[in-house]
Amino acid sequence: MFILGIETSCDETAAAVVEDGARIVSNEVASQIDLHGKFGGVVPEIACRAHSECVIPVVDKALADAGVTLGELGAVAVTAGPGLIGALLIGVITAKALAWAADIPVVAVDHLESHIYANNLSYDVEYPFVTLLASGGHTAIYLSESMISHRLLGATTDDAAGEAFDKVSALLSLGYPGGPQIQKAAENGNPSAIDFPRTMLSEGSLDFSFSGLKTAVLYYVRGQNAEGRPDPTVAEKGDIAASFQAAVVDVLARKLVAAAERHGVRRMAISGGVAANAALRERLSADAEERGLTLYVPPVKLCTDNAATVAGIAFHRLEGAGASDMVFDAYARRLAP
Ligand code: KG4
Ligand code: ZN
Repeated sequence: MFILGIETSCDETAAAVVEDGARIVSNEVASQIDLHGKFGGVVPEIACRAHSECVIPVVDKALADAGVTLGELGAVAVTAGPGLIGALLIGVITAKALAWAADIPVVAVDHLESHIYANNLSYDVEYPFVTLLASGGHTAIYLSESMISHRLLGATTDDAAGEAFDKVSALLSLGYPGGPQIQKAAENGNPSAIDFPRTMLSEGSLDFSFSGLKTAVLYYVRGQNAEGRPDPTVAEKGDIAASFQAAVVDVLARKLVAAAERHGVRRMAISGGVAANAALRERLSADAEERGLTLYVPPVKLCTDNAATVAGIAFHRLEGAGASDMVFDAYARRLAP
């Protein structure tokens, strides 16, 4: 069965065709980075307009690349939330209209579940595994027991990891989105140059906090300016970026490994935009190897927002709970973990 996936939860308009929840036949992403870049972050109104302009061409391209017509689809799947509500609605309305026109089921998909499904599209995964989901809006660790069962073990108490990358990047005037820019700047920096704080919260906690780290970077940069020095040079920015990245990676990796050990699980997985980070991927690969654990690392294109993971998980949703009622709503926040 071919399923068309649509994803418009934030600043990427994406559509993909996936066969039987497993084979990616096409995977189209139209990024809005250029539109939001000059504002230093996603502007919801601009995102909505761009989604409404792009969604049909992106769907057309995904179908054309796949060589599949609307009539050959078994279902249309769409991200229903969490995300920017106006942006989500563009995808939801489009998916409902297409499903209605083609007389096929529509499947509402949760954005967090679809992020985690990147692992299923990349590996013949075995359960259970502990999952780190780190993106611009979420940072959490789950105990994944099946494709659609993820038990929350810990989550951020303030900023998401991706948000911290974006804010520190803005502070260093490195551009948006911050993750890839910090990663690039960090390549020429020393990760041990500055000892930024690693907030672990209480002993044994699997929750996260990144606001202190973000503030520490702000004070470091301001402190330098207060000494009468101009803004950081390119080399200094490299050291700040590398030291900040090392602090985030250290916390994320230590908590994921701790979660695996605590729950006696031999497999770990990563997902979400921050899972694209090369330093995090390297660190966790080394941690996993050292402990003889399996680590699932999806390709970068499946870590950041895309519609292949939406179409993929929808296949199993359809087999399990069945199609969604045509009147389902988009939601900005997740109602349950
Ligand atoms: O999953 P995603 O594409 O969208 C959300 O659901 O939020 O994640 C976007 C986030 C942004 O904060 C971005 O800066 C971060 O993921 N990101 C990265 C990298 N690539 C994207 N963070 C660190 N390193 C990267 N290479
Ligand atoms: Zn996302």
